[in-house]
Amino acid sequence: MQPPAPGTLRVLHLSDTHLTGDGALHQGSVDTTAALESVLARVDDLPGVGLVVISGDVSEDGSPESYAAVLERVGGWAERHGAALVAVPGNHDLREGFRQVLANGHVLGEGGRPVMHTMEYHPPTVPVWGQSLVAGRRIVTVDTSVPGAGYGELSDAVLERLRTALDDDRASNGAAPHGTIVVLHHPPLPAPTELHDALRLQNPEALADVIRGSDVRVVLAGHYHHHFSGALAGVPVLVAPGVANDTDVTGRYDEEQAYVDAGALVVDVAEDGSVWSTPVRVPRPDADPLAFHLDAESVRAVIAAAGKH
Ligand SMILES: [Fe+2]
Repeated sequence: MQPPAPGTLRVLHLSDTHLTGDGALHQGSVDTTAALESVLARVDDLPGVGLVVISGDVSEDGSPESYAAVLERVGGWAERHGAALVAVPGNHDLREGFRQVLANGHVLGEGGRPVMHTMEYHPPTVPVWGQSLVAGRRIVTVDTSVPGAGYGELSDAVLERLRTALDDDRASNGAAPHGTIVVLHHPPLPAPTELHDALRLQNPEALADVIRGSDVRVVLAGHYHHHFSGALAGVPVLVAPGVANDTDVTGRYDEEQAYVDAGALVVDVAEDGSVWSTPVRVPRPDADPLAFHLDAESVRAVIAAAGKH
């Protein structure tokens, strides 16, 4: 791939790695560690990556071991490539395990240097919040997860914090001259299937109100396990393909199935706010093509357990 233009921040956007602490297969069929390794190997020669992002569902089981496995692989990749690394929790993550290994999610700073964190205890009820500066941009990670639920929500406190961060940016005038990148798990966009619709972000309009007219250049999300793009309040929203599997968006709306397939996005964010996104697919021809299938009754059971009531 061509190197990024001068001044452009190239982001490797990974999502839904779903790593397990004990190597158990995701949905009983996919070795997600192998899937992650195949994606990282495929992008190894990618020039000029300045930031690696994991937009949630970093772990399948929330164990510290699973986060350590991600850190070793993705952190190692970012360090070797001189890139920063940030991660945000999704609905499968557990804030306790996440914080124990990844702190506030801002793991590596500009140039791939470790970010120092003061150890601060937060109960799991408190959303993970992080912001840092990379190449003249403010990178803000916003926790949309709701403990015990599959759907996403932005609490009033989190929205206020985001509003303050963006106002600060305008006021400080110089710390982040090239704008802000927001990273979250649940996309503020319509969902492709009934299951994902039940597990969607509940209040995208609240996010729209905060980012409208701000210096946010792009919102990076995951959760749908399928590459999807749109806009919210005029800001591009990019959903990365899943590392774990690829949702079948052509099937029945009330059923859910996914193929064994992995991918990532390469997102270039220019100084003037222009954004380009290039999907990278890493098919796994050795594996059974179907990752899982849920009939309508099984989908209703998942919705009853993890949807908003
Ligand atoms: Fe998710």
